[in-house]
Amino acid sequence: MVAAAAEQVVAGLREECATPAGRLDEVAAAMAEEMAAGLAEEGGSKVKMIVSYVDSLPNGSEEGLFYALDLGGTNFRVLRVQLAGKEKRVVKRESREVSIPRHLMSGNSSELFGFIALALAKFVHDEGHNTLFDNKQRELGFTFSFPVRQTSIASGTLIKWTKAFSIDDAVGEDVVAELQMAMEKQGLDMRVSALINDTVGTLAAGSYYDEDVVVGVILGTGSNAAYLEKASAIPKLEGELPKSGNMVINTEWGNFSSPCLPLTEYDEALDKESLNPGEQIFEKLISGMYLGEIVRRVLLKISLQSSIFGNVDQTKLKSHFILRTPDISAMHHDQTPDLKIVAEKLADNLKIIDTSLETRKMVVEICDIVTRRSARLAAAGIVGILRKIGRGNPNDKRKSVIAIDGGLYEHYTEFRQCLESTLTELIGEEASRSVTVKLANDGSGLGAALIAAAHSQYLK
Ligand code: GLC
Repeated sequence: MVAAAAEQVVAGLREECATPAGRLDEVAAAMAEEMAAGLAEEGGSKVKMIVSYVDSLPNGSEEGLFYALDLGGTNFRVLRVQLAGKEKRVVKRESREVSIPRHLMSGNSSELFGFIALALAKFVHDEGHNTLFDNKQRELGFTFSFPVRQTSIASGTLIKWTKAFSIDDAVGEDVVAELQMAMEKQGLDMRVSALINDTVGTLAAGSYYDEDVVVGVILGTGSNAAYLEKASAIPKLEGELPKSGNMVINTEWGNFSSPCLPLTEYDEALDKESLNPGEQIFEKLISGMYLGEIVRRVLLKISLQSSIFGNVDQTKLKSHFILRTPDISAMHHDQTPDLKIVAEKLADNLKIIDTSLETRKMVVEICDIVTRRSARLAAAGIVGILRKIGRGNPNDKRKSVIAIDGGLYEHYTEFRQCLESTLTELIGEEASRSVTVKLANDGSGLGAALIAAAHSQYLK
């Protein structure tokens, strides 16, 4: 038997993390309500509902060679994409991934952009001589996955950092101008023709292959969603309405919060000790950056209150972010009869050795509780968006496809399955026949290239 004190901790967690359908329904309703408030006026809600200036989605006719830069996590990627119109589509795609040294995520802006521009310049250089660009400037779509107040399709100021970034002097600055400056310093003659969020890229890339895609979601290090809204439903939209009658909105749902969210003591402590206390509450319950950290906090409490982990040196257990979401995913999916992988992960990451099978099962249950809550809340968020646009109900026969990208969705099977079944549970069997969720692998980079193509200076 697992010691009573440990069992009590797990029972408390199970109860506080519960997300019965009724509660998720409240979450979806609150999300839809906040969305409407965020569209009504600037600052109308914590859910920022950012106008992206992307008023139509790619239709396949895009042509040319475009670059993309995808910045938003611990790595950034540079891409070169050759688009060849409706029939041939993407005929060539090359990319390079570079990991960002930790100190650059909290240093200063010119260092970060300098580092990125250098990698980009090398990538461009490796293209070799390309006659296509003899008298022409190269063009780039910039995916910058943080909340940005867009001022046009190719400019916008950083509202705040999220996830693991915190570079004070970049806040309030135009991120395109900073990139452009860094590129010039590298002698790179390239124009940023579009600035987008990764959710917008995912939506764009999704709809490039399937015109029924109406929502783009990221479930990775962070979490967010973008969708196609009717321009007439955006009171805060200034100036002339776009001809298409539509506008892509980057919701920034990560900052959603509501009394109906199932918050525990672990979430509260995590938030307090985070880089951005009081912010990104929904994201902190859902996304890959935080799930492992929540589990670590639960395990630490168990170790403080019971002896089931034996006489463990708690140095590791007390280190923030030492248990990562891929680790809890590996433990959660452990199929070995004696939960060997759980034992290994506990020993390697947390110096918890010599656990009983009973204890290892308990650890798996903790991963399950935390991950199920995350997946079910993400599903409720998606239902909130579907409600806002009048889709995904028995009266709506249109097909609605939700394109999702991000490591959490792509690699964490239990998470993915739980999200998908919860979606059906919430909208019902009948409506769910017209709603599909699909993986839009690497959508954000391709999406940036597509939107850059649609705004190319050479089109006019
Ligand atoms: C964070 C960012 C958001 C981004 C998301 C996924 O929530 O604020 O802009 O889309 O992470 O990368």
